[in-house]
Amino acid sequence: MIVGCCYLALSPQTALADDDGQLLFNDKCTACHALDSKKMGPAVKDMNKDPAALRGAITEGVDNAGPFPMPAFGEILKPAEIDALIAFISSQQ
Ligand code: HEC
Repeated sequence: MIVGCCYLALSPQTALADDDGQLLFNDKCTACHALDSKKMGPAVKDMNKDPAALRGAITEGVDNAGPFPMPAFGEILKPAEIDALIAFISSQQ
């Protein structure tokens, strides 16, 4: 119930289809990640190959005490958007 209320309030990219992982990646992730080269975060091809690990990192963030931790997207993106991102990342590895 609590979760349901927040999806409506937090829909920053209504123009994007929920299931377009590539557009979501370009919009939300390329500031810190590229497909083949390290930026602030690891290249997509070097990311963990386990979808459950990808989901954990995207949902909860990763903070190994670097200067730019991976932000948590669990309250920013909808579940369908996170699914689409995982599918896109997996397709690029
Ligand atoms: C502000 C910069 C930043 C943004 C924006 C960002 N990330 Fe990250 N991400 C990082 C950093 C830095 C790490 C590595 C963290 C560490 O090891 O301390 C990381 C780690 C990850 C990991 C873990 C990789 C592994 O092998 O365990 C995944 C998956 C990931 N990011 C996906 C994403 C996705 C998907 C998005 C867009 C929704 C995104 N990131 C947006 C900086 C960012």
